[in-house]
Amino acid sequence: MTLPDGIERVLFTEEQVAARVMEVALEIDEKYRGRELKLIGVLKGSVFFLTALARALTVPVKIDFLAISSFDGSSRAAQGMVRIAKDLDDPIQDEDVLLVEDIVDTGLTTRYLLQTLAGRGPRSLGICTLLDRTARRIVQVPVDFRCFEIPDRFVVGCGLDYKQLYRNLGCVGVMNPEKQ
Ligand code: IMP
Ligand code: MG
Repeated sequence: MTLPDGIERVLFTEEQVAARVMEVALEIDEKYRGRELKLIGVLKGSVFFLTALARALTVPVKIDFLAISSFDGSSRAAQGMVRIAKDLDDPIQDEDVLLVEDIVDTGLTTRYLLQTLAGRGPRSLGICTLLDRTARRIVQVPVDFRCFEIPDRFVVGCGLDYKQLYRNLGCVGVMNPEKQ
């Protein structure tokens, strides 16, 4: 596969991502066997991961999405404040809910979402993330399922963007620092 100019190197190939998503889907199936699961995706980054995960699961799943505004795709400095820009379509009361993230980085977004969703009375609330960058964590969040731990580099692909580009890359790649 030819990589776009902006990508310095591949961290995980499309095949590695697909294989790991299958493994994590098995773990999730195991945990929620006999129940119905609601996957909540955070737009737009988690869309690719969420759909792959949903296809791999055998427990019955419902899906819903929310969007937040917080992060300026052009810099990692503009983090902190988060607000819900598009809310879920449906209530989550008494449901088993899994929040599906593209990446847990500082943890600020995830913590905000957990607090907000917990207030709506789900039966259970878990976190599943494609990527986990614990090196940059500011607040601790309980990640229940994760596909990959990654180093402290800005990455794109599998839903993650740089200025809204590269989400559709099948692999996870490290951005060329000159393009950041
Ligand atoms: P947080 O720092 O854990 O709150 O992460 C907030 C959001 O920043 C994530 O959901 C991503 O959308 C975005 N983000 C963090 N790190 C990266 C990255 O390396 N590439 C692309 N987006 C990122
Ligand atoms: Mg982004």
